Amino acid sequence: MFKKWILIYLLQFFLITTIHAFSYDFPDSKCPEEEALRKCLNQSYIKGPIYFRDNESSYSTDLDVEYNRRVIYFPTAFVHAKDVIDVQNAIKCAAKLKYPIVARSGGHSYEGFGIGDKDCYLVVDLANLNQINIDVNSQTAVVGPGNRLEPIYNKTSEHVFAFPAGTCPYVGVGGLITGGGFGYLNRKFGMSSDNILDAQIVLANGTVVHNAKNYPEIFWAIRGAGNAGYGIVTSFTLKIHPIQKTTTVIDLLYDFDQAPLLLSVMNKLGSKIHQNITLLISIDPEHLGIHGVYLGSANELQNHLQEFIKLSKPKNITYTENTLYHTLVDGMEGPDVNGYYKAKSYFIDFKGLSDEGIKSLMNFLKSFECEVYSVILLVGGGKVNEIGRNETAFVHRGFLYHMEIKITLDSENSEMCLQDFDKFSQEFRRNYTYYESYQNLNDRQLDNWQCRYYAENFERLVKLKQKYDPYNLFNWNQSIPTNTKISCN
Ligand SMILES: Cc1cc2nc3c(=O)[nH]c(=O)nc-3n(C[C@H](O)[C@H](O)[C@H](O)COP(=O)(O)OP(=O)(O)OC[C@H]3O[C@@H](n4cnc5c(N)ncnc54)[C@H](O)[C@@H]3O)c2cc1C
Ligand SMILES: *[C@@H]1O[C@H](CO)[C@@H](O)[C@H](O)[C@H]1NC(C)=O
Ligand SMILES: *[C@@H]1O[C@H](CO)[C@@H](O)[C@H](O)[C@H]1NC(C)=O
Ligand SMILES: *[C@@H]1O[C@H](CO)[C@@H](O)[C@H](O)[C@H]1NC(C)=O
Ligand SMILES: *[C@@H]1O[C@H](CO)[C@@H](O)[C@H](O)[C@H]1NC(C)=O
Ligand SMILES: *[C@@H]1O[C@H](CO)[C@@H](O)[C@H](O)[C@H]1NC(C)=O
Ligand SMILES: *[C@@H]1O[C@H](CO)[C@@H](O)[C@H](O)[C@H]1NC(C)=O
Ligand SMILES: *[C@@H]1O[C@H](CO)[C@@H](O)[C@H](O)[C@H]1NC(C)=O
Ligand SMILES: *[C@@H]1O[C@H](CO)[C@@H](O)[C@H](O)[C@H]1NC(C)=O
Ligand SMILES: *[C@@H]1O[C@H](CO)[C@@H](O)[C@H](O)[C@H]1NC(C)=O
Repeated sequence: MFKKWILIYLLQFFLITTIHAFSYDFPDSKCPEEEALRKCLNQSYIKGPIYFRDNESSYSTDLDVEYNRRVIYFPTAFVHAKDVIDVQNAIKCAAKLKYPIVARSGGHSYEGFGIGDKDCYLVVDLANLNQINIDVNSQTAVVGPGNRLEPIYNKTSEHVFAFPAGTCPYVGVGGLITGGGFGYLNRKFGMSSDNILDAQIVLANGTVVHNAKNYPEIFWAIRGAGNAGYGIVTSFTLKIHPIQKTTTVIDLLYDFDQAPLLLSVMNKLGSKIHQNITLLISIDPEHLGIHGVYLGSANELQNHLQEFIKLSKPKNITYTENTLYHTLVDGMEGPDVNGYYKAKSYFIDFKGLSDEGIKSLMNFLKSFECEVYSVILLVGGGKVNEIGRNETAFVHRGFLYHMEIKITLDSENSEMCLQDFDKFSQEFRRNYTYYESYQNLNDRQLDNWQCRYYAENFERLVKLKQKYDPYNLFNWNQSIPTNTKISCN
């Protein structure tokens, strides 16, 4: 069986269009214990369709949802849950048979954890759980995990409300919100996970918890580690925020060589910038720019950024007023962009990125042999840092920036690129950044991921794992383990 993947992607910030064609075989052999699993699933009257490997066309369409082709495994089957009972029944079969099981929402895990960490998982695909119910009076939205961000941005914006979530509109809600959620409204409204008011979750023993907020331990864990092995979230109640009708995008363009100046100005002024503004610096071997979102008009924005602009000396400035939806979605990377990727995450404290640090990054970008870019999100001075590090499982508070470096591989030199990236990253991390790393930019090469992702909250997460999933049903490389000798305090 020969599969062809035709992929088109837009490089998010500079709209370079490239076309790739990939292909691979998937095994049509059966997985261990597959017969027992088929029998159990068949007997549990699951309403949604189930695609095993022998249904070549539907199975490969399901695989195709995965954003990152670098880490493709071949699950036993995809169960397309129609409702929470389907999820419950799938979990019950897996528990009974000790069958590896995993949830998938948008398929955007950088390490492919939405289909497990090896072949032969049972994947519970949640794409059909895609309700969005906005209640303007209570300022809440009830949202299914199978949504992408885009329709949530659209529906909230239609009501002139906002929900803070990712910069890429086609990332899945289930994975993003449970692990944090960085994006253009963080400085005003906090992380996505900070805005979870309640959730419905099916636990490893098959029990449906209708209101996680009545289980303070679970409610704490799913805000930051909800995608790390406590169950499958089937619905979220989210806090949404009234906003002004007009929002503004600002684009500032710089010469690449201005990066040290730009960073020194941002280090100095960043945390004083008005909370209605979130700024993202993006840098690749040829470009340096800032893309920012402001809740308000272009005129007001201009006033707020006067000093920043004066000192950082952009070559070009454009302001675009629009609804929040268009502000967040127009010009962004589209939905069908799968390829071969690796990403790494860093946090930088209030000293900011040093001159040596930015120069080291510039050297790397210039000399790296694969496609690469980096984005630096200003979080300092914003709502994210007003919440305590142990108030939720999302620990990363008190930083000036979150920084990501992302590479796109091609078939020729991908091994070399991965190795060189990792080598640079280890040194860069040690020399210029803080110890922690963002769990949603998962990276299998990351040492001490337990402490980097969860820090002092890790020990409590392990205790809760022991309590709510003692047999480690939800288990993959970077799920919370049921026991550990590692201490992160
Ligand atoms: C192109 C791209 C852009 C991104 N941009 C941003 C960004 O702007 N901001 C940001 O914060 N992050 C961003 N991310 C990272 C993103 O937050 C994570 O990849 C996130 O896990 C994706 O969620 P998903 O549902 O699409 O992924 P999936 O691969 O479906 O799932 C990811 C993980 O979450 C688990 N999971 C999924 N749904 C559930 C559920 N309902 N209950 C329990 N566990 C679940 C899965 O088992 C898996 O372990 C981006 C990633 C990509 C690839
Ligand atoms: C499912 O069960 C029904 C009877 O309940 C049976 O007729 C059918 O063949 C079974 N299908 C599979 C795939 O086992
Ligand atoms: C595969 O799934 C599709 C969609 O449900 C169905 O129409 C088709 O009959 C299935 N094919 C096989 C070989 O089971
Ligand atoms: C919602 O999306 C539609 C379709 O893209 C678009 O026309 C509309 O303007 C969006 N709503 C808002 C408030 O921007
Ligand atoms: C499943 O676990 C939860 C949480 O520990 C517990 O409240 C519930 O009673 C358990 N359900 C069953 C059927 O054992
Ligand atoms: C900030 O945003 C909020 C929500 O849209 C708005 O009510 C407020 O007027 C804005 N403040 C400024 C100074 O822009
Ligand atoms: C600034 O950017 C805008 C929009 O991209 C473009 O139309 C304009 O020509 C640019 N101006 C300069 C001086 O580069
Ligand atoms: C949370 O952190 C505060 C200090 O910031 C500490 O006083 C408190 O004991 C911590 N709570 C737990 C449960 O660890
Ligand atoms: C990290 O620091 C060491 C020692 O100062 C230096 O030799 C090395 O080049 C630095 N690495 C990077 C990636 O900047
Ligand atoms: C991830 O898990 C797979 C199989 O479950 C294992 O072979 C591999 O070594 C693990 N990788 C890491 C880095 O832990």
